[in-house]
This record gives sequence, structure tokens and C-alpha cells, in this order.
Amino acid sequence: MVPMVTPFEWLAQQLPSIAARMGDLPVTSSVQPQQVRSFLAEHFDLEQSTPLLEALPAVSSMLERWTTHVTHPRYFGNFNPSVTDGGVIGEALAAAWNPQLAVWCHAPAAVEIERFTLDFLMGKLGLDAESCLAHFTGGGSEANHTAVICALTQCFPQWAEQGAAGCEGAPRLYVSAGAHDSFFKIAHAVGIGRAAVRIVPVDGDLQMDVTALRKMVIEDARAGCTPFMVVATAGSTAAGTIDPLKRLVAFGRVQGMWVHVDAAYGGFGVLTERLRPHLDGIAFADSITFDAHKGMSVPMGAGMFFCRHPKPVEAAFAAANSYMPAPTADGSEPYLNTLQWSRRFIGLKVFLSLVEHGARGYDTLLEGQCAVADVLIQGLIDGGWQILSQSPLPMVCFSHQDVRASLEAHENLAAAVRKRGQAWISAVTLADGQPALRACVTSFRTTPADVATLLSEIQACRIGRFGHIS
Ligand SMILES: Cc1ncc(COP(=O)(O)O)c(C=O)c1O
Repeated sequence: MVPMVTPFEWLAQQLPSIAARMGDLPVTSSVQPQQVRSFLAEHFDLEQSTPLLEALPAVSSMLERWTTHVTHPRYFGNFNPSVTDGGVIGEALAAAWNPQLAVWCHAPAAVEIERFTLDFLMGKLGLDAESCLAHFTGGGSEANHTAVICALTQCFPQWAEQGAAGCEGAPRLYVSAGAHDSFFKIAHAVGIGRAAVRIVPVDGDLQMDVTALRKMVIEDARAGCTPFMVVATAGSTAAGTIDPLKRLVAFGRVQGMWVHVDAAYGGFGVLTERLRPHLDGIAFADSITFDAHKGMSVPMGAGMFFCRHPKPVEAAFAAANSYMPAPTADGSEPYLNTLQWSRRFIGLKVFLSLVEHGARGYDTLLEGQCAVADVLIQGLIDGGWQILSQSPLPMVCFSHQDVRASLEAHENLAAAVRKRGQAWISAVTLADGQPALRACVTSFRTTPADVATLLSEIQACRIGRFGHIS
């Protein structure tokens, strides 16, 4: 018999139990595409309507069984964290009210909640909220995209009308070998071409080598190109490395280049005592990317873009039309300052997470993740593993003399761990070319006991206790 609850009541019962049960579920799923497709075909006929209460258990069961659970305490993976209650509730409320944030007059409460939240985070980043602009984005890629558009608008007055053809000297932007690959897609999309992205080698600490950068910029300028932007990464995807922010900002100033800090991952450092000093200099960058759906544990996606120069932002996203409501008196119309037009209420989940935990609570959660990463590092060292990266963020890259020095051997080991379903780790090539295993403490629910499980799984897979792996 169908239980006497409404679909909303069903949801309210289900949501808390997801986090409560997560630690007992397998982290990974080995389902094959055909199994999922057959299940869908068998259970759902979209020509017909089906009562939600009949369909929801099946959908929920699919999600439970056939997902790599990134909110699992033993998901030591990419930057997809466990989610705060405030984040989940914020996501649901935003969907239910569905305010349109394109213009202030349609969503005064929502636009001002976003502004209030961003002003608070600007304070943490050391930015002056009065003179800077900030907005939520779909994710880090969109925020990086926004930064490149603003930098091009600022540095090449003809680019807005004529694209790359209007630029004096082929535009060149510089990223470290550890930077996120979104910059290649972005260079493609903005019409300067993927070859415009110049990869600067890293030094022994995997940080952008500023001497090499200087040399490349001089050589490119001599060859008739126009270096216009340098991207410092604060929390590289593979290793959690933070580039030398102060030196790169100073370099950009001297060269007249736009300096962007891609702190999509590492931005959360400004919320912790322990990590804040490592982000020194971030406040002087021209623009910053910071993803709340990475370090602040809110559901995807909640990117943020911060910029110290309102003019190029406004110029880049200006629009004139008759069908949108007239701008309000203070001119803060989100669709005129951002890449998006229709805008969902992304900021509510960030706001409610901050309401729930406060800055002090975030400090505690993030400090906890760093402390768990310390336990992992010690356990690896005790087990004879070498630590290959020195990130202050809760991210560890490591290898073992018994694992062949190839990416494939590391991938095989990571795959063997994942296959057993107890933990999720990956293999990466570091910015200096070394292969490594990578474990990021991305969940605030991860405990030393979870680390102990990970360590025993890695060790057992390395010595082939569960079968030969490479
Ligand atoms: C350093 C860095 N920048 C940008 C991105 C892209 O962010 P998103 O996946 O939110 O678009 C990532 C994603 O992991 C990243 O690690």
C-alpha cells in the first residue's frame, strides 16, 4: 500500500537519512550502462504520468546504488565534498521559490542575500566590498571564463567589437603546468585560440617558476605577441599547490598584465587560521575564482567570481534591450554584470551554510580536514610511502618504491582500491611529470578511522593481497 505521505513529506524523511547512511554504502559502483538503461526503460514510461510517490523510491534507489558517492567520508577524490544541511535546504528552497535573479526588481530578497554573502566573503578575502564586484557562477570554469573575458576587455580595447582580429599582437595568457585545463576551453571559446595559453614550468615545489614566466613573457613580446594575463593557481587540481601569489601579483603589475587567482579549490583557506597565511597576496589580484561547492561543502554548483575592477566587468556584459525591466536606481542588475542571463538563486545554499556554521564553524570543519590529512601523511610515511607534494591544503600525493614509476601502474593501483568499494582515490601526473596517487580529504565527515581504512586498502592492493594489479 502506498504510504500516506505527500512527495514533499517523503523527501523530508529521506534527505537526512542519506548523510546518516552514507558511511555504510560502497563508495563506488561497478554498474554498466546497459543495466541502467534497461532499468529506466522497464520502470518509466514518459508517455504516461506516474504518481511521484511511486517513482521516487526507484529514482532514489538508482542514485544510491549507481553513483560514485562523492559525499562519502572515504571519497578521497576530486573536490566534491560532503554537503552541509544548510546547503541542501538552500538548494531545495531556491528550487521551490525559483526566483529569477537576472534583475534586481524580480528578486530583491535573493539578490540582496547573494550580495550580503559575497560581501562577507570579500571581507575574508581582504577585498573592499565597496569598490569590488562579485557574483555567483555555475562553477569555477565559468568564473575563470569570466576572468578571461574581463582581462581581454580591459587589455584590448578593440576585442569587444572585433574579437582576436582587433587585438594588437596575438594575446597570450600564462598558466603553470599545474593549472586547471579549463583555460584551454576558455581560450578556444573567447576566440584567442588554445595556443594562446602558455604553460609555464614549475619549480621543485610544483609552484609556477616566476623566472621562467618572466623569460617566456619577454620572448613572446619580442616575437610580436601581447602577454595580457597571468593565472596563479591557489590549490592546483592534481596536487593542491599554491603558486607564489605575491610575486605573481607584483610581476603582473610591472608588466601591465591582468593577474587572476584561480582559487576554485584553495579559496577556502581564507576561512581558516591555519591556511590564511598561504593565501597572502590574493587580495591584490585583479580577479579571483573561488568555488563554494569545493571547499565550503555546499552542493554543486556554486562558483564565485570576484573582481577589483567594475569597469571591464560592466563593459564585458553590457546589454541593451526593451524586454528586460529597466535597471533599478543603483544599477546593480545581475544580468548586466555576468555571463548568465536568467539566473538561479545559487547563493542561498552558501548563505545558509554560513548561517548554519558561521565563520568559526567553518574554521573548525576545515581545520578538521587538515588534521585528518596530517594523519594520512603520517600513516603513509609509516607505511613506507613517499610524499611527493607539500600542499598546506588537505591533499596528499604519494608513491612507493615498489610501484613502477609509470602513470599506468599508479592508475592500476588506484583502480584496484576503487574496485573494492571501500575508498576512492585517483592517480595523477604531477606538474613536474611524476606519476602519483592522490588523496584529497574533501569531506568534513572523514575521520582518522576512515584514513586507517584507506591506508590498509592501499597497502593491501600494493602488495597484491587481492590479486595482481599491474
Ligand atoms: C583549480 C581548478 N580550477 C577550476 C576548476 C573548474 O571548476 P568547476 O568544475 O566548478 O567548473 C577546477 C575543478 O576541479 C579546479 O580544480
